[in-house]
Parts: sequence; structure tokens; C-alpha cells
Amino acid sequence: MIHSPPAASATRILAGLLESRTGQQIAPSRYWRIQSALAPILKAQGIPDLDALVAVLSDPDNEQLLQASLDAMLNNESFFFRDTAIFAALRSEAFPALRERRAHRKTLRIWSAGTSTGQEAYSVAMLVDSERDKWTDWKIEIIGTDISPSVIARARTGRYSQFEIQRGLSVDYMLRYFAQDGEDWVIDPRLQAMVRFQEDNLLKPRAELGRFDIILCRNVLMYFAPETRHIAYSKLERSLENDGMLMLGAAETVLGQTELFSATREMRGLYSKASGGLSGQSIIPPPLR
Ligand SMILES: C[S@@+](CC[C@H](N)C(=O)[O-])C[C@H]1O[C@@H](n2cnc3c(N)ncnc32)[C@H](O)[C@@H]1O
Repeated sequence: MIHSPPAASATRILAGLLESRTGQQIAPSRYWRIQSALAPILKAQGIPDLDALVAVLSDPDNEQLLQASLDAMLNNESFFFRDTAIFAALRSEAFPALRERRAHRKTLRIWSAGTSTGQEAYSVAMLVDSERDKWTDWKIEIIGTDISPSVIARARTGRYSQFEIQRGLSVDYMLRYFAQDGEDWVIDPRLQAMVRFQEDNLLKPRAELGRFDIILCRNVLMYFAPETRHIAYSKLERSLENDGMLMLGAAETVLGQTELFSATREMRGLYSKASGGLSGQSIIPPPLR
């Protein structure tokens, strides 16, 4: 007798919910992740399986549980200085170029979009701090945003496990910027104060974040369907200064994905607005399903 996997349709429904709320797609070959991601919620709620969870979630009164379930299904993988070559380009090429371009007003705004648990935004803060003498009198704002309330809450604490602290961070930076607290490592309050974290869905317009000189949006768009990715690129384009720079993940490119950005010839891994980009035009993204 052939059995279909126990919660095959439940996983499909949950994957569909995740995509409609966040844009993130889970390939059917990775549906097994849904079961393991939601196991703690099932246990805590005394819900026997994913079919029963889907039934519970179909009650609109259970929106909070739905949010928690979506949150648990998101892929939050991150580590410090992920893709070292791109961070090296930030230090050696983007920062010097922007120091020149912004010399008259001495302000720099950096946005880590889809920041997860904060390693990306804090890596940028460490880079800036390690060259403090070059930024004397500058006002530097670093903002980390994510759709997931739980990772934003964690990012704000600046607290990392022994495993997390060892991923991507040199011993020098670890000792310079973190203090050991029991089994964890906690970021220097001075660095913590350089970064602000808040919730934000890349697929929804949010004007109050303002415009940025550098946007990092790394390992987020690769999980979006093409049309959803287009909505996100439009938001990034509108949020970037005309001469600002976009940084994607090492495995990502704008090539064949969007015409709003193009590769910068002189800076590998950094993208600028394509000439005649959509700046100034009003593009209202279609509502989410
Ligand atoms: C794989 S992590 C990447 C973290 C970090 N950028 C890095 O490269 O190390 C992707 C992050 O994007 C967030 N995310 C997914 N969909 C999002 C959306 N629509 N708006 C904002 N953040 C989103 C997830 O919650 C997750 O924390």
C-alpha cells in the first residue's frame, strides 16, 4: 500500500501562507523543513500534527499563532562578515567613495534589509568603528530591518552563542567588540548604540525609513518568486540615494532579475541604480495576496 506523506497538503498550505505573507518560497523538496521548524510550536500548543495546526490557523482569532508559525518557518541563517570579499569591497571601495561624495554633509545612512539576528548590521558597525579616525564628525546611521519580530528582538540584544560568535568573526574583532557573559558573548554597548533595529516587510511601502547611501539586501531576494522580487527591488530602488550602492549576497545578482540596478564596473559585488532609474516616480506595489 502506498501512503502519501502524513501532512503533505498541510505543508503545502503552510508554505503558501508563508509566501503570501512574506514572499519567501519553500521548494517542495524542502517541505521537510516546515515540520521541523514548527515542531516546537506544536509541542508548546499541544497540537498533534500539521493538519491540526492548519485547522487551528484557519480560525481568524488565531492570528497571533499564525504569525508565530510564519516566523518559525522563515530561514534566518546569518553570520558575521558573511561573504568577506563583499565586506572588503565595502571598506576599500564603497566607504572611500562615499566619504568623498558626502564630504559636504558628513552623513551616511546604511540599511541592512532582511538583517535577521543582527550579524550583518553589526558587521557594518564594526567596519565603521575600526576606521573611526576616518569618520570623525560624521553622523552614521545603521538600520537593520526584518519581517520577523523574533529575530529583531534577538538582534537588539546583541547577544550571541559561542557557536554564533565563531562564525565569521576574527578573534581580534571578537575580543575588541564583545564581552563574554556566561556562555554567551554580548556586543559592546557603544557598537550596539550605532545600530537601530525595527520590523519591516520588504514587500510593503514604508516611506518613513527615508533614503540610504548603502543598502545591504543579502540572501533574502533569492527566495522570492520573480514578480515578488520585482516589488522588493522597486522598494529598494526608491529607498536608495541616486548615487548610492546596493549590496547583494555572494550568490545573487541583478542580472536577468531587474533593470532597476546595474553592476558597478569599479566595485565588484556592489550595484548602483541603472541610469534613468525609477527614482522620483511613484510605484505603488500591488497589494499582497
Ligand atoms: C537568510 S536570512 C539573511 C540574513 C542576512 N541578510 C545575511 O545575509 O546573513 C533572510 C532574512 O530575510 C528575512 N525576510 C524574509 N522575507 C522578508 C520580507 N518580506 N521582508 C523583510 N525581511 C524578510 C527573514 O526573516 C530572514 O531573517
